[in-house]
Amino acid sequence: MIAHTAQLDAATLDAAAALLRGAFLQFDDEDWAHALGGMHALVHEGGRLVAHGSVVQRRFLHGGRAWRTGYVEAVGVAADVRRRGHGTAVMAALETVIRGAYELGALSATPDGWPLYRSLGWQSWRGPVSALTPAGRVRTPDEDGAVFVLPVTARLDPAGELTCDWRDGPLW
Ligand SMILES: CC(C)(COP(=O)(O)OP(=O)(O)OC[C@H]1O[C@@H](n2cnc3c(N)ncnc32)[C@H](O)[C@@H]1OP(=O)(O)O)[C@@H](O)C(=O)NCCC(=O)NCCS
Repeated sequence: MIAHTAQLDAATLDAAAALLRGAFLQFDDEDWAHALGGMHALVHEGGRLVAHGSVVQRRFLHGGRAWRTGYVEAVGVAADVRRRGHGTAVMAALETVIRGAYELGALSATPDGWPLYRSLGWQSWRGPVSALTPAGRVRTPDEDGAVFVLPVTARLDPAGELTCDWRDGPLW
């Protein structure tokens, strides 16, 4: 099932937040807030929510342009039903949104997610990454190697700098 945040009722959103708090070692209210305001992909099994991911719009600077970016957030699968294709199903739904609506797909992955994204053809960003903060462009070296992209129509130099827009909480 795929739906915009505005189309999901409070019980479904609460179930998704609870799923993610259980799936990640650390997942707080700011992480959940970053997952809102875009399209959610949800997988239910027997009435129970077992997998979630969402894609929200951001603007990323690269090569002198601001690209309309579909940013993937909060991809998580309940621990007892992993390696059964639910993560892949969530990403397939989100990729359809990204290819239809954005110039570029992007995400920041924890090492647990790397095999999934690599298996789906997402590319690890090799160049430096940074953020456009109220104080100007700031390098975010902790994210070097953790950012993955899915090119759609954006012209990308994979060795170049990729700069995310500003937000409260974790920038990537
Ligand atoms: C990462 C996560 C979403 C994967 O979900 P999943 O439903 O198990 O993924 P899938 O079953 O679709 O796996 C697809 C492929 O990804 C790769 N993969 C997924 N998890 C893997 C793992 N732990 N080790 C190695 N490869 C893995 C495999 O190639 C797998 O295909 P296979 O099972 O046929 O070998 C899930 O493990 C999870 O919720 N982890 C905790 C939260 C997290 O880290 N989320 C991602 C943060 S960026």
